[in-house]
Amino acid sequence: MANSVIAGLDRVLTMEIVRVTERAAVAAARLRGRGDEKAADQVAVDAMRAELNRLPIRGTVVIGEGERDEAPMLYIGEEVGSGTGPEVDIALDPLEGTTICAKNLPNALAVIAVAEKGSLLYAPDVYMDKIAVGPGYPEGVIDIDASPQQNIRNIADAKRVPVSEITACILDRPRHAKLIEAVRATGVAIRLIGDGDVAGVIHTTNPDETGIDIYLGSGGAPEGVLAAAALRCTGGQMQGRLILDTPEKVARAAKMGIADPNRVYQVNDMARGDVVFAATGVTDGNMLSGVKFGRTAITTHTIVLRSSSRTVREIKARHQDLDKF
Ligand code: FBP
Repeated sequence: MANSVIAGLDRVLTMEIVRVTERAAVAAARLRGRGDEKAADQVAVDAMRAELNRLPIRGTVVIGEGERDEAPMLYIGEEVGSGTGPEVDIALDPLEGTTICAKNLPNALAVIAVAEKGSLLYAPDVYMDKIAVGPGYPEGVIDIDASPQQNIRNIADAKRVPVSEITACILDRPRHAKLIEAVRATGVAIRLIGDGDVAGVIHTTNPDETGIDIYLGSGGAPEGVLAAAALRCTGGQMQGRLILDTPEKVARAAKMGIADPNRVYQVNDMARGDVVFAATGVTDGNMLSGVKFGRTAITTHTIVLRSSSRTVREIKARHQDLDKF
C-alpha cells in the first residue's frame, strides 16, 4: 500500500464512494417494480455519474455501461471525477440486476470499484465462466477445470460438513441445465437466482448470513471483474474464463489486450492493486436491505470494502435532506 497511488486517499474514498452507490440506488429504487428496466438503469446511471464527478479523482471507466457508441454515459473510456487527484480505474454498474429491479425481486445493487490505474482486467462484454468461494478455504480448493462434483466435494471436505450441507448459487438459465443437474446429483442444495451474479459471488463471502457457499456458472464478464474486486477486498477465491466462442469475440478481446482467449483469471488477475469497492442495496437482499422511503428520511444500506486493510464496513444511512434526492 505504501507505494500505491491511491495510498491514503483510499481511506477517504471509502467514505466518498458510498455516496456514489447510495445515489444510484435511491434513483433506481424509485422505479422498483415498474417493469421498466431501461428507465431504472438510466436514472441510476445519471445519478451515479453526477456523484462520481464530485470525487477527487482522475478516473477512467474501464468496466461500464458499454462501448462509447452504445452507451452515452459511463461508457468504457469515459473520464470521470473532479479532474484533480490520483489517476484511477473504475468498474461500475449503476444498476446490477435491471430486471430484478423492474420486477422488485431480491438483490438488485448499485455497484462500484475504484482501483489503481491499470489494475483491473479490461473485460469485453462477453460471458465468463465463473467459480467462487469465500475466505477461509485452502488455496486451490476450487478449480474451474475440475468437475462441479469435485469442487463441491473439496469445499465440503474443507468445511468438514457433508455435501448435503453445502449450498451452491447458480443463475437460472437454460445454458446451465447440465450444470444444475450435475450439482443436484451431488446432493447439494441450489439457490437458483434469476439475475445478479455480482451479488451471487459476493454472497459466498459470508455464508453464515447468506447461506451461499459456492457460486458456479457463466454470467457477464464485466460483472465477473466487479465481483473479483469485491473478493480482492474480503478474501475468497474466484476463477473466471472468458467465453470467446466466435472469431469476432476473440478479435474484440484481443483489441482490449487479451492475448490468450483460454486464460483462467484468478482474483488477482482481475483486480490486482489496491481496490475500494461499494455496493448499495436497491431491492431487499440476503446481505443488504433495499432503499426505504420514509416520510422524513430515505434509508440506504451499503457495504464498503477496502483491500489494503481488508475492512468490511456496512453503512446504514438515513438521508433527511430529501431535496438532495
Ligand atoms: P443487468 O443488470 O445488465 O441486467 O445484468 C444482470 C445479470 O444477471 C448479471 O448479473 C449477469 O452477469 C448477467 O446478467 C447474465 O447474463 P444473461 O442474462 O444473459 O444470462
